[in-house]
Order: sequence, then C-alpha cells, then structure tokens
Amino acid sequence: MELLSAHNLSHSFDFMIYEGLNLTLNAGEKIAIVGVSGSGKSTILNNLSTMLAPKSGVVNILESHNIYALKAQELLHIRRYQLGIIFQAHYLFRGFDVRENLELASIVSNQPIDMELLEHFEIAHTLKQQIGELSGGQQQRLSIARVLSKKPKIIFADEPTGNLDSQTAHKVMECVFEYVATHNAGIIIATHDMHIAQMCDRIYKLENHHLHANIGLATESRTRS
Ligand SMILES: Nc1ncnc2c1ncn2[C@@H]1O[C@H](COP(=O)(O)OP(=O)(O)OP(=O)(O)O)[C@@H](O)[C@H]1O
Ligand SMILES: [Mg+2]
Repeated sequence: MELLSAHNLSHSFDFMIYEGLNLTLNAGEKIAIVGVSGSGKSTILNNLSTMLAPKSGVVNILESHNIYALKAQELLHIRRYQLGIIFQAHYLFRGFDVRENLELASIVSNQPIDMELLEHFEIAHTLKQQIGELSGGQQQRLSIARVLSKKPKIIFADEPTGNLDSQTAHKVMECVFEYVATHNAGIIIATHDMHIAQMCDRIYKLENHHLHANIGLATESRTRS
C-alpha cells in the first residue's frame, strides 16, 4: 500500500535547493536520505510532511491528493492523526514534567501513554522530572516516544539520534523500526549516520540538487544482516 508519493517536487529559497524529485513510500518501508550539511535534506522533509509548501510539484499522503491544495484545517488533521514528526528541535514543553508532556500528546491524539516504549527507551524512571532536568539524549528519546505514542502511519525523522551515542542511537532506531514493521507504517529519515541509513530499505543521496537512488548501500546492508 502506498503511504506517500511526491511527483516532480522542487524547492528553492533565494537559490535552488532541489528539483525533479520523485519518491514513493510504501507501507512497512524505511527510507533514508543522506547528503552533506546544507544540501537540503531538512527542506525535503518539510516539503513532504505538510510543514512547507514546495515551489512546485505534488505531494500525496494516504488518501489525500495534492496536500498543499487542501484547507489548513484538513492539513492539520493529517498532521495530527497520520504523521509523526521527529525533527531536530524537540518541541518538548518546558515547565512541564515528562509525564505531563506525554499526557499532552495523548490527549491530542486519543492514545494512551505507552509505558513499554518508555521502558525500551530507558526513560520510564524520568516521568516526574522536569524537561530541563533531562539530558539532551533523554529529551531526544522522550520526543521520539511521544511521537510514536500518537501511532502515526508515516514518520518523518530529521537527525533523530543526533544527541545520542552510537549504541543508544542504534537501540532507539531499532525500536522505531520495530514500530514501523508492526504497525505497517513508513518512515523517511534524514541522517548523517550511515550506520542508521544502512538499517533502511532504501538510501537516497541528495547531491547537486537531485535525489539519487543509492541502492547499492542498502542491498549491501541487507545481505550483511
Ligand atoms: N527558511 C529558510 N530560508 C532561507 N534559506 C533556508 C531556509 N531553510 C533552509 N535554508 C537554506 O537551504 C539550504 C538547505 O538547508 P537544509 O536545512 O534543508 O539542509 P540540510 O541538508 O538539512 O543540512 P543539515 O545536514 O545541516 O541539517 C541551506 O543552504 C539553508 O541555509
Ligand atoms: Mg537538516
């Protein structure tokens, strides 16, 4: 089943970022986007995730075609109930403790807090702590747990493990990928971490304003694991 497709997408600010992008995400699939800093990975994720209208092209999400032609309210509905957005800034509510941050997400999405997930992420013991008392890596894991507890169909992750040591990063991404498999969801992840990219089904490289399929790497990782 197709979760997302992008057709002939392009974006520019004062200068061209990328053009001619075509991409399809199917249920159960994990896609990585790599590329040097400033190449436009975050811009692509913003374009695909309802956050930023591209300069041209079409994005379809589930049964919604050409999402940027929808009303703001409809876009919000997709974002709230179908998407999980894990971006570089964590968007945790400071001044609230961990449990309250999770409860806010639960109320918005009508999903219970997933204690098992918090155990997996080794942050279950932080429920009573204030956000400011968590380490950077704990905040990152909390924001990922919060997104997964919404039970999204499509996850967009922008450097989701940037604050984590490689062992913890690997463990957290295994949990996220397990979520994708068991819920038949899909994920598109921008990362500099080739180890994480190689855990995906497909790797694309953003270079010279184009997204290049880099299937060799993904095949290599599949035969190795
Ligand atoms: N809102 C904006 N207005 C103007 N220029 C922007 C804006 N957002 C990003 N850019 C520029 O677009 C280019 C691509 O940025 P983007 O954040 O997509 O890169 P990236 O590949 O995600 O980089 P990194 O790996 O460092 O996160 C950069 O040159 C950046 O300065
Ligand atoms: Mg970025």
